[in-house]
Amino acid sequence: MRTPVLLLAFLAILVHADPLILPLNKFLSFGTSLVKNVEPGADLYLASKDSDEYLKNIQITTGGNSITLDSLNGFNADSSPICLRIIDTMTVSTTNNDTISSWLGGNLYVTTKTQADDPNFSVYVIKTQHNITMKSGTSVILNTKLEPFVYIDQPYKTSYVSGIQQSKDAVVDFKWGIPSYNWQSVDTNNTFFKNPMDLKNDTYRSYV
Ligand SMILES: *[C@@H]1O[C@H](CO)[C@@H](O)[C@H](O)[C@H]1NC(C)=O
Ligand SMILES: *[C@@H]1O[C@H](CO)[C@@H](O)[C@H](O)[C@H]1NC(C)=O
Ligand SMILES: *[C@@H]1O[C@H](CO)[C@@H](O)[C@H](O)[C@H]1NC(C)=O
Ligand SMILES: *[C@@H]1O[C@H](CO)[C@@H](O)[C@H](O)[C@H]1NC(C)=O
Ligand SMILES: *[C@@H]1O[C@H](CO)[C@@H](O)[C@H](O)[C@H]1NC(C)=O
Repeated sequence: MRTPVLLLAFLAILVHADPLILPLNKFLSFGTSLVKNVEPGADLYLASKDSDEYLKNIQITTGGNSITLDSLNGFNADSSPICLRIIDTMTVSTTNNDTISSWLGGNLYVTTKTQADDPNFSVYVIKTQHNITMKSGTSVILNTKLEPFVYIDQPYKTSYVSGIQQSKDAVVDFKWGIPSYNWQSVDTNNTFFKNPMDLKNDTYRSYV
């Protein structure tokens, strides 16, 4: 009788990890969550106006080390947000009870490794007011919750851009969403404003 032979095909699959936005209110107290599709070498940012009293109960583990989120809730001397380099995997656990967790308004943002390594890729977290200086490249602007909450119909999160100073040959594109893993090579059609403006034919007609 012939012995059955099990053939294993090892497939090399090229994968990419897309950047992630992870709302803090999705992490509940049932245990530790392994965040999927996080690349080693990526950067983790926190955009949050939640109290450190609750952020310190949320733990991130990578490369065998753990930190609590209150330590990412601040800025470096150059006003860039503090971030954490992902070493291998990323896990999140919380000791906040689920009532507290469900009230958290902040988000985690995970870049790709390429973005983390790119000196022309920067991230800002807007809590009050920021001066943003860009030479070239991509800046991601993360909103935090508007406070104080005054009107029932006010937007939950918003940013207000003013005082743009731009040289004549510079082009600034404003896009919604976060840059995808291939943000430099695809047109994701998410530009909502451009300066200089690039009007589609017929968008504007001058009747003179
Ligand atoms: C959740 O935690 C908060 C703050 O520690 C506490 O005031 C509240 O009673 C807790 N709620 C539940 C349902 O355990
Ligand atoms: C960053 O931008 C500068 C200025 O445009 C450019 O010379 C440089 O090659 C860029 N670096 C990368 C890694 O893209
Ligand atoms: C931004 O720059 C302007 C003009 O230089 C300055 O008046 C303002 O205080 C700065 N704001 C912050 C938040 O650094
Ligand atoms: C962007 O729009 C163009 C023209 O409408 C289309 O050909 C292209 O597939 C779109 N790209 C994406 C990523 O949706
Ligand atoms: C732009 O629109 C005008 C008026 O509708 C038309 O005459 C002209 O050919 C259009 N130009 C292009 C480049 O499509």
